[in-house]
Amino acid sequence: MKIKPVQIAVDGFSSCGKSTLARELAKELGYIYIDSGAMYRAVTLYALKNRVFDNDKLDKPLFLTILKEIKIHFELDKNNNPITFLNNQNVENEIRQIEVSSKVSIISAIPEVRERMVKLQREMSKDKSVVMDGRDIGTIVFPDAMIKFFITADLDVRAKRRFDELAEKTSKANFDEVKSNLAERDLLDQTRLISPLKRAENAILIDNSNLDRKEQLDIAMKHVKNILNEG
Ligand code: DC
Repeated sequence: MKIKPVQIAVDGFSSCGKSTLARELAKELGYIYIDSGAMYRAVTLYALKNRVFDNDKLDKPLFLTILKEIKIHFELDKNNNPITFLNNQNVENEIRQIEVSSKVSIISAIPEVRERMVKLQREMSKDKSVVMDGRDIGTIVFPDAMIKFFITADLDVRAKRRFDELAEKTSKANFDEVKSNLAERDLLDQTRLISPLKRAENAILIDNSNLDRKEQLDIAMKHVKNILNEG
C-alpha cells in the first residue's frame, strides 16, 4: 500500500526561527526540508548580479527576461543540510548577505516570480514527505497541508538572532541595520497584494520569544505526533 506523503508548512515572520524549527522537524521525522525563502533569495541575487536595480527602482522588463535563465536546486552537505544552487553554483552564503535581504521583498512581490517558485516548490515535494518553511506555504503552496505552524517572536529578539548569525559570517553586521531590515520586510511581506504573509486559519501558533530551540522543537513535535496519530 502506498503511504500518502505528509506536508508540514512552517510560516512566519523574518528571522523568527522558522528554518531552524523546520530543519529540526524534518530531521526528527526523516522528511525532506525545503527552505522556500532561499529560492526567493537566489532569484534576488541573480537580479542584483545582472544589475536590474537602479537604487530601489527595478527594471521590470529586463528582470522578466533574466528570470527565464534562472535555475535553482538544492543539494545536501555532509551534515544533511540543504545548500542552495543558482545555475549550478553554490550560493548558500551569498544569499544570506544584507544586500540580498534588502531587495528580496521587492523581488518576491512580483507575480511571475511567485508563480515560478510555487510551481517549483510543489514539484520538489511531489510524492515526498516534506517540511517547508516560508510565508505562504500553509495558505498558497500547500493549502491542504496536514500540519501547519505559524511562528512568531518579538522584533528585538529576532533582530538579535539574525545579527548574531550574520556576525559569525561577516564583520560588516550592524544591529540597527538588521533590525530595520526585518521591520521593513515584515511590513512588505504582510501588505503585498499577492500571497501576503498571514496565518492560515488552521495553523498552530508558536511564539518562541522565550523558548530555546529544544523547547520549541518539543512543542512542535507534540503537535505533530498528535495530528499524525489522529490521521
Ligand atoms: O525566510 P527568509 O527570510 O530567508 O525569506 C526571504 C524573503 O523571501 C522574505 O523577506 C520574503 C520572501 N519569501 C516569500 O515571499 N515567500 C516565501 N514562501 C518565502 C520567503
